[in-house]
Amino acid sequence: MLRILRFSLLLAVLALSRSVLAVDLDKGKEINGTCAACHSDNGQGGKKGEYPRIAGQQVKYIESQLKSFRARTRVNIPMFPYTQERELSDEDIKDIAAYLAGIELDTKMPTYAGHEDALTRLLMAEKVMIIPRAEGDLANGEKIYQKQCAACHGKTGKGRGMFPMLVGQYTSYLQRQVDLYLKGDRPHDEEGMTGLLNALKAQDIQDILAYLTSIQEPKE
Ligand code: HEC
Ligand code: HEC
Repeated sequence: MLRILRFSLLLAVLALSRSVLAVDLDKGKEINGTCAACHSDNGQGGKKGEYPRIAGQQVKYIESQLKSFRARTRVNIPMFPYTQERELSDEDIKDIAAYLAGIELDTKMPTYAGHEDALTRLLMAEKVMIIPRAEGDLANGEKIYQKQCAACHGKTGKGRGMFPMLVGQYTSYLQRQVDLYLKGDRPHDEEGMTGLLNALKAQDIQDILAYLTSIQEPKE
């Protein structure tokens, strides 16, 4: 009797914590099946940045972008069919965002212990993502980034909350987004950032992007 009571108590606690957390990672994984066609299984993106990396991105940011694709405030023609209301509900957006945010990609090739089989090695190597170094003046990039971008995107470029992670993202994708902001083709809710970007020379942007590729590996 006591055991049954304990068991049902456990179930009740589980049910409660589930409704509090309200994310279903299995569902997120299932939804990711449709995203993987373009963004790859581990959310690494592809085609040298035509498809951005979405793994390890900030939850709130992923949610906000999916909602703006759905509302068509941020135009994304390839993704349009996948983000329509009947395809992707608010609940689904929560689940897929949490799932993607939880994918950790390494910035170093794994060191094998020696006893792994070929498949295990392959799976370990697949979780590595290193953006090729971009050319630019790293010192200038660092100076501008730390002064003008770090307040929102974080000192190490990992983002926080609604501010996206920039480090570990394809350089060509980031450059394309800067161009879209500058042309006014991608809406930015805070006028401040478009103003900031406008005040920079193209070379400064290049230097910032180069700097971001240089800080992928945490200093030991
Ligand atoms: C047919 C290809 C395709 C599919 C399928 C697709 N995407 Fe995308 N996605 C893109 C492209 C292309 C972009 C970049 C658009 C741009 O350059 O502005 C993008 C951008 C994004 C972004 C914005 C990234 C950022 O840093 O701002 C998120 C988040 C995203 N996709 C999530 C998803 C999720 C979740 C799914 C599955 C439900 C999905 N995508 C399915 C092609 C696709
Ligand atoms: C006041 C806060 C703030 C500052 C400062 C700021 N940003 Fe942003 N940035 C944002 C927000 C918010 C977004 C996401 C906006 C949206 O929803 O499209 C963003 C998005 C971006 C993106 C697109 C990322 C993606 O995954 O699509 C790039 C690139 C970017 N910022 C570069 C910069 C650079 C470079 C600087 C410094 C010169 C900078 N930002 C300074 C708030 C800021």
